[in-house]
Amino acid sequence: SKLPIPEPKDCSKITPNYAKLVENLSIVQKRIFGGQPLTLAEKILYAHLWNPKEINKIVKGETYLQLKPDRVAMQDASSQTVILQFMLAGMPETAVPTSIHCDHLIEAYEGGDKDVKTAEVTSKEIFDFLKSASEKYGIEFWKPGSGIIHQIVLENYAAPGALMIGTDSHTPNAGGLGTIAIGVGGADAVDAMADIPWELKAPKIIGVKLIGKLNDWASPKDVILHLAGKLTVRGGTGHIIEYFGTGIETLSCTGMATICNMGAEVGATTSVFPFTSSMHSYLSATRRHPVAKQATSYESYLKADVNANYDQIIEINLSELEPHINGPFTPDLSTPLSKFADFVTKNGWKDEIKAGLIGSCTNSSYQDMSRVTSLVAQALDKGVNPKSDFFITPGSDQIRATMERDGQTEILQKVGGRVLANACGPCIGQWKRTDIQENEENAILTSFNRNFKNRNDGNPSTMNFLASPEIVTAMTFAGRLTFNPLTDTLVDKDGKPFQFSNPSGDELPKHGFEKGREFYEPTQVSAGNPSTQIVIPSDSNRLQLLEPFPIWHGSEFHDLRVLIKVKGKCTTDHISAAGRWLKFKGHLENISNNTLIGALNADNEKVNVVRNVLTGEDGSIPEVARYYKENNIQWIVVADHNYGEGSAREHAALQVRYLGCPIIIARSFARIHETNLKKQGVLPLIFKNDDDYNLLSGGDIISTVGIIGLEPGKDVTIRIRKEKSDDKKKFEEFDILTKHTMSENQIEWFVMGSALNLIASKQKS
Ligand code: F3S
Repeated sequence: SKLPIPEPKDCSKITPNYAKLVENLSIVQKRIFGGQPLTLAEKILYAHLWNPKEINKIVKGETYLQLKPDRVAMQDASSQTVILQFMLAGMPETAVPTSIHCDHLIEAYEGGDKDVKTAEVTSKEIFDFLKSASEKYGIEFWKPGSGIIHQIVLENYAAPGALMIGTDSHTPNAGGLGTIAIGVGGADAVDAMADIPWELKAPKIIGVKLIGKLNDWASPKDVILHLAGKLTVRGGTGHIIEYFGTGIETLSCTGMATICNMGAEVGATTSVFPFTSSMHSYLSATRRHPVAKQATSYESYLKADVNANYDQIIEINLSELEPHINGPFTPDLSTPLSKFADFVTKNGWKDEIKAGLIGSCTNSSYQDMSRVTSLVAQALDKGVNPKSDFFITPGSDQIRATMERDGQTEILQKVGGRVLANACGPCIGQWKRTDIQENEENAILTSFNRNFKNRNDGNPSTMNFLASPEIVTAMTFAGRLTFNPLTDTLVDKDGKPFQFSNPSGDELPKHGFEKGREFYEPTQVSAGNPSTQIVIPSDSNRLQLLEPFPIWHGSEFHDLRVLIKVKGKCTTDHISAAGRWLKFKGHLENISNNTLIGALNADNEKVNVVRNVLTGEDGSIPEVARYYKENNIQWIVVADHNYGEGSAREHAALQVRYLGCPIIIARSFARIHETNLKKQGVLPLIFKNDDDYNLLSGGDIISTVGIIGLEPGKDVTIRIRKEKSDDKKKFEEFDILTKHTMSENQIEWFVMGSALNLIASKQKS
């Protein structure tokens, strides 16, 4: 209460319409649940239903909820295709408040502003494109250097009881401020921006009961490091993690954000905390007390109902929690600090830490930085310097400026700490590392959230261990993996033993947050500006305007060729690989050169090799698909079970459509990919008789009966012409039956060529 309360900013666009949400919730809770108590996550989701008066049944794990998010946030890598698709919708501006954050495309090398300047040159065309599109469509644009998406969202946009989606898997960070914030693929973001209901299968809810109070060295990060060990990387799939219990009132808002952020590592849809006094304080400190005031008046909406039922409950006693270290290579390999030295010795790892890295979207709060500074100040006082390289990534310019004003940066730099740009940097492989040889085995310790192989520096032999910023910092001074700062000593400048005392720090800055540099303020937008030209250089190989896909020709399909009959697992990674292809995300033609390159051909048991029936020669899948396209031959894919499982990557649908595929016939589809195909105007058909998969081969000629007059639930006949194996000049012909899951609305997408074409046509009429 002694903290200064700064002038509030305009909160009209960031305050949820609580009255409306509560009204919606009450309709759903009465009609569908007979007034039964609900969890907080259920309440927020159901309050955001598109059709609260029409939905008749909600079965968790089965029903698709049609939702209306309050906000969309995107980072610079994923937003490119979203914008390119949104351009096709023909809308003057986005239907919901949207922001773009330039944080992924900045490489950490020399540190701070220098690295931002370099990125402004190397990725100029991407930033110019996103900036101009933001101006045109009324999107708030946060330029490179302004900060990391999730920190900026927490500081500016998150609000208790709101629903937001973001094109980044750590979007759940905003759950620390009571927001249901879900990471999605680009096609989902386009839905919300274009005013189409956004679909989510009603998740189950894991309740995590927190009791007690963290002590000494334990921090909020240890809650999630410990929980990840319990749940494993798949334990949260299809669930929202909702925290409750007396322990939550002892946590800072930013600490809760850290916990929610890393909930992504157990596969949870998102994580959320109920409204607490620390959220109130954080909203006030970040100039949003009007939001805090409103939230206070709707407090009962912002917590679970008494006796709400969780699908599973886990209890954690904060008082007993000790620091944890997770890794290497997977975030759920969790080891309590007291057992970590043994773990290292048992594995025979070299007892050395090459670098300690703190900050990122996960752990760069004022509280994190002030607790870390308290440790560094102790070491400085005793003349002890870090043995490993020490890097600090502030999550935003506001944090960077506040750290500088309060002297934290100076202390960190005095011991050799290097402050990097307010950007993702080493967390996403944007780290020009010079201290190791290629493929050299080495260990780093980070306060980040993810530690898959190659993630930080592209070196598969770098072992990344995850810990709290306090543990990372203290262990960086020792430079040894077996060092336990709670029990072990170092040697000070006088040769005497030095042991760290407990870290301490302020939850929020005593003198308020500094605003950060003015030029990092986002573009202030009240509406789109239709006259703005979107900037795409004509010779760019990273950006390309999308052309609307052609509308359905109104006839049955004739003489389509089976490009490939895929055998076994075919994920979105097999259909549109990531890695080096990521830089072409904004260029459909170029990224299409990776189409299906991971798919296994059932005819020849080879990956990415198919027969070109026009030339009689074998070629790669993208090559042959292009050849067919150039010769005006449309093609189809025949696939096995669960085709398109994995991520929500919309390129897996966009690319096949772009290269000339109107139909995919599979034994079954993964749900998100099936929807993505429908959105891009591709018909996903399912064999009625599973064994009919065996009747098809690459090169078969396909026609349809039943596309004219296509209706929900009505089967489509596929007429197959095959070369007779004994006489290549003769063909045999037979029919098989397929079914589909298209709704009336989705059939309209198909008829119009894509969901976006349909929106565009409605805009024009
Ligand atoms: Fe960026 Fe790493 Fe967070 S990539 S958004 S800092 S998880």
